[in-house]
Amino acid sequence: MSNNANDLTPLLENIETEARKSIGRGKVADYIPALARVPRDRFGMAVCAVDGTEFVTGDADSCFSIQSISKVFTLELALKMVGSAALWKRVGREPSGNAFNSLVQLESEQGLPRNPFINAGALVVTDAITARTVSPVLALLGSVRRYAARQDIYIDEEVARSEAEHGHRNAAIAHLLKAQGNLNAKVEDVLSVYYRQCAIAMSCRDVARAFLPLAAGGRQPRTGEKLMTPLRAKRINSLLLTCGLYDGVGNFAFRVGIPAKSGVGGGIAAVIPGKYAICVWSPELDELGNSLAGTRALELFARKTRLSIF
Ligand code: DON
Repeated sequence: MSNNANDLTPLLENIETEARKSIGRGKVADYIPALARVPRDRFGMAVCAVDGTEFVTGDADSCFSIQSISKVFTLELALKMVGSAALWKRVGREPSGNAFNSLVQLESEQGLPRNPFINAGALVVTDAITARTVSPVLALLGSVRRYAARQDIYIDEEVARSEAEHGHRNAAIAHLLKAQGNLNAKVEDVLSVYYRQCAIAMSCRDVARAFLPLAAGGRQPRTGEKLMTPLRAKRINSLLLTCGLYDGVGNFAFRVGIPAKSGVGGGIAAVIPGKYAICVWSPELDELGNSLAGTRALELFARKTRLSIF
């Protein structure tokens, strides 16, 4: 592939060298002890094109905890299960300007979370799935496996347990939602599904493949399967742009300008509609919980390819 004029490998290797310079300036998530053990010097990046070609650099095939990136998969599944009209009655579509795990806004806005990617909104989305099926985790895993076109994607149960043991803030949010009448299933059941969805382990290559339908109008180019309508893909991409990086979303749009979703495991998944799905992973985070070297890598990618959507 190195003779191909569209080969992005040299560019990705160059970006890795540059982005790695940020490593040492951030902090690995330590509020989930099992995540704090991940080596801070890891960096991987995968770019999947809508024509099926793929380019990778660094630790692109190492599995990491996808954490909040999972919220995109649960959103898509909930929309499919309960329909958009029912779901959007229970969760908004506006940026929050607050930390992802904040309780304050939920209290002042009477239990209607601002968007599906802050924890309060994600818990409502997870509730929609949990109340709908007897095996929500299997339904979600099946869906993620279909999206990534890979059958052995798994849940890291140690990460899930570790998060459950330290999940007082998420439990508080879930109980508040229940008290406000915006949670149907049992609080314990919703939290259990939420912790396990966050603990799904995937590589950069897997995540980029799973996001490819969002870049390809809802179709998975790797299998030809139509996984969502073009309208749904467009709408999810717009939520990534406005809500995908929590209170860091404005600065991310300013620096990078590509719809994306981050997770505290250090992954960021990004979509360039009509062209590429990208995933970058590096565990050290900035103060808002977004990967430091990952953000830098996407900034360089957008600049060097001139593929920012702006
Ligand atoms: O709810 C939590 O605390 C985590 N399991 C997921 C949060 C997350 O990844 C936020 N992302 N930046």
